[in-house]
Amino acid sequence: MNIITPTADGSNTLYNETIGEHYHSKHGALQESKHVFIDAGLKFVSADRSEISVLEVGFGTGLNFILSFEYCQANHIKLNYTSIEAFPLTCEVIEQTGYSGYVPEGIWSDFITNYPNALKAPQKLTTLCALEIPHTTLAEYQTDQKFDLIYYDAFSVQHQPEMWSDEIIAHACSFLKPGGTFVTYAITGKLKRAVKASGFTIEKLPGAPGKREMLRAVKEM
Ligand SMILES: C[S@@+](CC[C@H](N)C(=O)[O-])C[C@H]1O[C@@H](n2cnc3c(N)ncnc32)[C@H](O)[C@@H]1O
Repeated sequence: MNIITPTADGSNTLYNETIGEHYHSKHGALQESKHVFIDAGLKFVSADRSEISVLEVGFGTGLNFILSFEYCQANHIKLNYTSIEAFPLTCEVIEQTGYSGYVPEGIWSDFITNYPNALKAPQKLTTLCALEIPHTTLAEYQTDQKFDLIYYDAFSVQHQPEMWSDEIIAHACSFLKPGGTFVTYAITGKLKRAVKASGFTIEKLPGAPGKREMLRAVKEM
């Protein structure tokens, strides 16, 4: 059961009763998504590009996706977005978040009308945006595709330690192109060691409000 909960910046998140955790930071869902995934991830990687492929771990409400979609449309960047999700939410729950208010109407309607089908097969939302949400676990996910950017947005190590094991981090990192970038809201010594062991250069960046630091890592060429 997921319960809609307000966060400190006025945006909502969901509280997952089974896991015992929120989908986003209680200090601000919207500002966390913008800070970690859009500013430190998408803007960093897409600065000199006309096309980008993103692999997200944990689609959840789609907040990271709609902000990415809006940014890429506005900047004429072709976006190929794949997001692994083991427990997809219903459209009704996603609508209840109120996130439709954070993007232009056309972006929201392109997203919400294509969401159910994106769980089954890749969907072309616009000439610049394709969305696919493989309904599977990260451990079971396999593809020959390589991505420019990973948004690692799993529940925290306290609540879902299996999503932060060295093996699963290496598995996720194996889907990045050489020179590709991995971003996540979390940073621990263990995570830094696991990412370094997969051949990455790591950077500690200021975290979203409520977190001192976050991790950005670039895969060596
Ligand atoms: C922190 S939330 C993601 C928030 C999401 N990015 C958003 O913007 O709403 C973590 C997500 O990971 C999903 N998840 C949990 N276990 C998973 C697994 N083994 N593989 C893939 N996704 C998983 C959860 O269902 C949840 O949607």
